[in-house]
Amino acid sequence: MLRSLLGLASVVLLASGLFNPLLPTVDDYLLTKQQVHTYFFSKSSNFASAKCNSVPFAAAQNGFASAVGLPLSTTWRDAATLTNATMTKIDTGVDGLAAVCAARQQFVQTLGQSYDTCTDRYYLISLGNTDWWNVMVYTHLMKHLELICSTGFDVYQSNLDCIRKAETADGTLYRACFYKFNATVNANPNNFCGATETFIGCIHDYFTTECNSYVGWMQCELERVGFANDCYGLAC
Ligand SMILES: *[C@@H]1O[C@H](CO)[C@@H](O)[C@H](O)[C@H]1NC(C)=O
Ligand SMILES: *[C@@H]1O[C@H](CO)[C@@H](O)[C@H](O)[C@H]1NC(C)=O
Repeated sequence: MLRSLLGLASVVLLASGLFNPLLPTVDDYLLTKQQVHTYFFSKSSNFASAKCNSVPFAAAQNGFASAVGLPLSTTWRDAATLTNATMTKIDTGVDGLAAVCAARQQFVQTLGQSYDTCTDRYYLISLGNTDWWNVMVYTHLMKHLELICSTGFDVYQSNLDCIRKAETADGTLYRACFYKFNATVNANPNNFCGATETFIGCIHDYFTTECNSYVGWMQCELERVGFANDCYGLAC
């Protein structure tokens, strides 16, 4: 039963970019929109400390969109499209990864001190004409690139092929971490952070076995940064 469920899910879901270990997305967590709202938007906002000016923000976004092969009109409101294009580019190999990180570096430099506010989920929500889900997808992308393009870069680029194996038949156990996370969250909705801790441990163990301990740490970090604002004290 579990096997056929996983088999079916991997066929259907991989086609839409789910469970890509190179760039985890919000869809991977199998949470409903309501759950995303509950678990990621329950705190009060505090973005007002710095400003995000729309003109440099637009310029920074134009540069990033074109670097990943998208029309200039692609903005943070098209978070799924941006994520998919970024993933596709990284999937081409080390040169694609370098191009994505160069584009990300340019994005950060253009925004300067306003980077944090421009990529803050509450700030983006305040701009309107979007939803919680889209904002999570966008902020997730930015957080993941922060890690992939800085402290995680060396480990990531020298293990691309091994990380990619989790996309294939070897990835059954990888995907099982996500299904288990979903089952745990639903069985015990008030212990989201406990489920998260178990989940990132599952990812850590999978990649340590499949690749090496550096990849185990890096992939665990990649997941951890997505939850760290809401679950304190998570460690890889
Ligand atoms: C993701 O991008 C690839 C390559 O550009 C494209 O073929 C595919 O349809 C896109 N998938 C989604 C879900 O947007
Ligand atoms: C997540 O878990 C719930 C509760 O066990 C289940 O009903 C749902 O189908 C699961 N979602 C996915 C995508 O497997």
